[in-house]
Amino acid sequence: MELIVARNRADLVKARGEGRVALVPTMGALHEGHRALIREARELAPRVVVSIFVNPLQFGPAEDFSRYPRTLEADLDVCRAEGVRAVFTPQAAEMYPPGRQVSVSSGHMGTIVEGAVRPGHFDGVLTVVLKLFNLVRPDVAVFGQKDAQQLAMIRRMVADLDLPIEIAGIPTVREPDGLALSSRNRYLSPDERHTALALSRALFAAETLAAETGAPESGAAGAGPARIKAAARAELDGADLALDYLVLVDPATFAEVGESYTGEAILAVAAKVGGTRLIDNVVLRLS
Ligand code: PAF
Repeated sequence: MELIVARNRADLVKARGEGRVALVPTMGALHEGHRALIREARELAPRVVVSIFVNPLQFGPAEDFSRYPRTLEADLDVCRAEGVRAVFTPQAAEMYPPGRQVSVSSGHMGTIVEGAVRPGHFDGVLTVVLKLFNLVRPDVAVFGQKDAQQLAMIRRMVADLDLPIEIAGIPTVREPDGLALSSRNRYLSPDERHTALALSRALFAAETLAAETGAPESGAAGAGPARIKAAARAELDGADLALDYLVLVDPATFAEVGESYTGEAILAVAAKVGGTRLIDNVVLRLS
């Protein structure tokens, strides 16, 4: 089936048709991580719509909105190869006509961790995601665990606003050496890319510690948040990067967990390597 490219709302309505649809919202510059989202979407619905829109609302004034990679023709090739039914690629004026007043507030959760470093970011993300949900009317939408707080906030919005949409999260896709795939990786010089590996190394060191000490057969109490974060921090010490945060949080609320916490937790890290800001995380079980 030929890929339909919808550039406005009217084209999108025609392209969507009726029946079960899975939506994969993206900002383009598609890579293997996006391909994994699309493949999951194809498992979940017979028709997949991919949106490609670099959303100005989620970028701060000093962030990389203007230089964010825009690679539409290559992205359309990826979508064709992955069997996508339609790509929705609106202009900003189509998404945000003049006179706009109302937007989504991400609440307290949108002001902590990533939201503390990027004020307004999650309001912008949730506003565009809600608009995409209303325009595409998907039955299910697929997001990556790489943006763990974004995924948690979208689940929160769906619950809080009673949206009739299923949310699927899929694990982070990594390069063979551990680097989490990101459209921003293309900004990295070879030296910076090498430095950036400290992030995944730190997360894996913590993951190993949590798994080894938390194994039931060890008979010992598992390593707590302080030891887990120290193991990760040891890998970051000396790396030529500017750490924004390294936090161990509750996956649903993104509140930092205390020493007595047990259960699933997310170890999340964000840092600037040269001029490029990267985020990554792993899911751990604390026992
Ligand atoms: O994860 C992204 O690429 C964006 O934040 C999203 C969900 C497409 C909203 O612009």
